[in-house]
Amino acid sequence: MPSYQLDLTRRPRRMRRTAALRSLANETTLEAGNLIQPLFVIEGEGASEPIKSMPGQFRLSIPKLIEECKALADLGIPAVALFPKLDSKVKSDDGREATNPDTLVLRAIRALKKEVPQIAVITDLALDPYTTHGHDGLWDTAAQDLANDPTVEVLAEMAVLAAEAGVDIVAPSDMMDGRVGAIREALDDNNHEKTAIMAYSAKFASAFYGPFRDALGSAASAGTHALDKRTYQLNPGNRREALTEVALDEEEGADILMVKPAGPYLDIIREVREETDLPLAAYQVSGEYAQIHAAAEKGWLDLEKCRDESLLAIRRAGADMILSYFAKEYALRLT
Ligand code: PBG
Repeated sequence: MPSYQLDLTRRPRRMRRTAALRSLANETTLEAGNLIQPLFVIEGEGASEPIKSMPGQFRLSIPKLIEECKALADLGIPAVALFPKLDSKVKSDDGREATNPDTLVLRAIRALKKEVPQIAVITDLALDPYTTHGHDGLWDTAAQDLANDPTVEVLAEMAVLAAEAGVDIVAPSDMMDGRVGAIREALDDNNHEKTAIMAYSAKFASAFYGPFRDALGSAASAGTHALDKRTYQLNPGNRREALTEVALDEEEGADILMVKPAGPYLDIIREVREETDLPLAAYQVSGEYAQIHAAAEKGWLDLEKCRDESLLAIRRAGADMILSYFAKEYALRLT
């Protein structure tokens, strides 16, 4: 060894020398109990359909969904977020299927609450699975934009239907103004004061949602609007505006706040964590999942290590809970 020696009092590497010391100094942990598995639901009883741009993810019929949720519950995953993929024949310009009292997602909620009551069920409130144009609300052709207040009226109705079906948490993902307050009021007026609201508060107009739109078939039908959601989702460069949205959702009665996507917005997660005492969720979206898979397939990244590091970083930034397509795999690794 060279004899050169610095005269240092502080040597941070001392605590990294062995696995035991590193364990003592570890600051961030992530458990299955912090994870929420998003799941796609389809009609029928048949086999699961693989989603091409999301390797390892499937569209599940209700019987398969029940099986999957039993497995997730056994792994210690406390919650799932359901996304229905509808046949194009039930989609319409105004997405009226969203308030059909027997629509796919409501049947899925009822089946899950009956068969796997220990898992918490979360459902999105937004019209994109139901509209031919793929937007999250009612399209106003004259304005070439979503109609805010009429959309909120439909979302509130969807919330009450989901609550009646037994959902634990409704998650408005539409970014309309005033929707959290309106949903809280509609739930309370219908004796669903126990149904919680997870608000997609800082949801950015992100290109990382691409594979999800494939999974739902909501991009293909976008037509001339080409799914430009910038009049409602946040500008990726806007940090102060994100904090304004979060503050409004908290005032309007959200129980859980969310930042989405997660990995590219770690600074926002950290700032929201410091601004509020409410539980904070982050959504590691489809594109974040797909990019790790794609690079791993090429042999350029280590799938498991990148998966774990991406989740840990989101947690370190301040998320209490993480919605991630990796949830099940991560929980399996811990067993
Ligand atoms: C729709 C919704 C989207 C996601 C969750 N809910 C897509 C969008 O806003 O276009 C994206 C999730 C993902 O990419 O994993 N309201």
